[in-house]
Amino acid sequence: MTTQNPPLVHGIFDPDTWTVTYVVYEKEGSPCAIIDSVLDYDPKSGRTRTNSADKVIDFVKQKNLRVEWILETHAHADHVTAAPYLKEKLGGKTAIGDHISTVQQVFKGIFNLEAAFKTDGSQFDHLLRDEESFSIGSLTGKTLFVPGHTPACVAYQIGDAVFVGDTMFMPDVGTARCDFPGGDAKTLYQSVGKILNLPAQTRLFMCHDYPPNNRPIAFETTVAEQRANNIHVHDGISEQEFIEMRTKRDATLEMPVLILPAVQINIRAGELPPAEVNGVSYVKIPLNAL
Ligand SMILES: [Fe+2]
Repeated sequence: MTTQNPPLVHGIFDPDTWTVTYVVYEKEGSPCAIIDSVLDYDPKSGRTRTNSADKVIDFVKQKNLRVEWILETHAHADHVTAAPYLKEKLGGKTAIGDHISTVQQVFKGIFNLEAAFKTDGSQFDHLLRDEESFSIGSLTGKTLFVPGHTPACVAYQIGDAVFVGDTMFMPDVGTARCDFPGGDAKTLYQSVGKILNLPAQTRLFMCHDYPPNNRPIAFETTVAEQRANNIHVHDGISEQEFIEMRTKRDATLEMPVLILPAVQINIRAGELPPAEVNGVSYVKIPLNAL
């Protein structure tokens, strides 16, 4: 994997959800993968739009890329994936880590979803096992199972680049919360350790940025920078210290604005819930359940 050229990485930041969608490719005209796309969702009206996803489509067309994979690092709680829309417009196979079935089981219960809702991950075209390799043209990707934020999170290692999903954020932001159903701080610490044991110059690409102190948006760093400066997991922070910090901090965080609609749609690989007899699709709001 070290012999291939470093992949080209294009990040598109969505200011509404603080999410970065990545297009990863070898060169102009080559195959590509799209990681963690965004379907705009207005919680006030319940309306979806495709402005963010259209920016991804524009870039793919501009560089004459051929989409092979539409990847998710996890079932996001803060934005809805645009995977079905991108697949329809650009082709490619959707994929997520194979532990998504655990997340589907948990939320099928919480949302009391229809009996026909399958919890085997079959809504996605492919489920990636830990360490499973996949190709994007001449590039080779590898799936790294990094649970903790959710029990099904994966990161994608493509050449010298790792798309870390919701494990770490930029060094001055720290790490992802671990208080969603199935989340676990000890597990996240171990997953972060897996990433931080990669070579020092490995490029790390964040799924989000929440810049403090008016810092400009940034979403690329390295293993070396995280080990030196990450406020939650720099070298020397013990597992116990991390768990205490994370648990205390998570207790202060509100649920993300979009968690209820987002999870409900994302565990369906981005398809809206089946339309009711009037042709309208609904999301449910469980009261006093989260
Ligand atoms: Fe997340």
